[in-house]
Amino acid sequence: GKVAVMLGGNSAEREVSLSSGHAVLNALLTQNIDAHAFDPAERPLTDLLSEKFDRVLIMLHGRGGEDGSLQGALQQLNIPYTGSGVLGSALAMDKVHTKQIWQCLGLPTAKYKIAEKRHFDVGSCGAIMHELGNIVMVKPAREGSSIGMAKVTSAKQLETAVAKAFEYDRHVLIEQFIDGAEYTVAVLNGRVLPSIRMSTPHVFYDYSAKYQDNTTEYFCPSGLSDEREQRIAALSLQAFDALSCSGWGRLDFMQDKHGEFYLLEANTVPGMTEKSLVPKAAKAAGISFAELVVSILATSLE
Ligand code: DAL
Ligand code: MG
Repeated sequence: GKVAVMLGGNSAEREVSLSSGHAVLNALLTQNIDAHAFDPAERPLTDLLSEKFDRVLIMLHGRGGEDGSLQGALQQLNIPYTGSGVLGSALAMDKVHTKQIWQCLGLPTAKYKIAEKRHFDVGSCGAIMHELGNIVMVKPAREGSSIGMAKVTSAKQLETAVAKAFEYDRHVLIEQFIDGAEYTVAVLNGRVLPSIRMSTPHVFYDYSAKYQDNTTEYFCPSGLSDEREQRIAALSLQAFDALSCSGWGRLDFMQDKHGEFYLLEANTVPGMTEKSLVPKAAKAAGISFAELVVSILATSLE
């Protein structure tokens, strides 16, 4: 059938989505699949019907593409799409709701506070820093690629970082910083791919460490013992299921000095750029980029 690769869009991650989307589109075209780029920032969704697309491969990152709203619209139009449905997409887009669910189920995630734009009391910054261990990450609830994030070590910095994060979302997550290594695990059709460990000289694994410079080191296999690899794999599947996610995705973790993992977030449309993580994990599992893309496309038929 005819496949629309949805890319671009209007979110802050538009540029990342264009890279992911074109890489995926090219992989489909080299396999003689009738695939076409479709940028919802440039044309109405109803073109999918008039141009008789049979299914959609969603390569949009961030709000409007990864948050359940597009998924709901496609469902109403009766067009199959890849990845998670409305609920899983909406929950995973929101780091606050994600953590609340994981915490309820006893899954490990770092301590946190929620800042709400209309009610945030800057006078509470000192107490929040103290309670969360004096090093915290500040994150807009619904962004990706580290956009709007900061690592802070004082009440004054927290005040500034929260104000900055409010430019992206009215809900902001203030999270205890877990000092250690960052790991990620891809989920594909009910199985997990080998974990990856990331190491960056930046203050944290930020936007430029992800896409713009070549200083980040990636380890896959990650060097975990078999027992730790099984632990992170099991946590990944549990965390993914807890949010009602399906098809494919990626779970991000920190590991503390004692070897314990802490879930950071779930991504329901992970990056597929040439620097992205899921293609690296697939490669380590013997899955080529072309095979990975076909597997992702197949999630639309569940
Ligand atoms: N939000 C970016 C695209 C990722 O998770 O890879
Ligand atoms: Mg994310």
